[in-house]
Amino acid sequence: MKIVLISAVIALGVLMAGPARASADLANANCGKCHEMDKKKKGPSYKSMAAKYKGNEAGALKAVEDPKGDHPEMKAKPEDVKAVVKWILQQ
Ligand code: HEC
Repeated sequence: MKIVLISAVIALGVLMAGPARASADLANANCGKCHEMDKKKKGPSYKSMAAKYKGNEAGALKAVEDPKGDHPEMKAKPEDVKAVVKWILQQ
């Protein structure tokens, strides 16, 4: 019984950590060239974006997806951008 319970807790942990880690990897792959967690690079840090766009996921998405904006050559898939933006706003 104890083992079942422990396995369930571990499984839940893996399930919950999965999407967050995937989003962090997506961010590294698609945005890491110009953005970093807490330092300004070419663009602002994820933390400063999270502060600026708190409660405004649509605004943050627009900043990334507007072809006339800061990312004229964004190649990431829209659903990946969405997952990454969601993740950034949680930092
Ligand atoms: C080729 C470099 C580059 C890549 C790749 C890139 N960005 Fe940016 N990003 C910038 C620059 C440059 C700015 C504007 C900086 C400024 O205006 O001071 C910016 C601005 C932003 C802003 C707006 C910040 C604000 O203050 O309004 C967001 C949000 C953002 N990027 C998210 C992303 C996300 C998410 C990705 C990956 C899916 C990404 N960026 C990939 C260069 C990049």
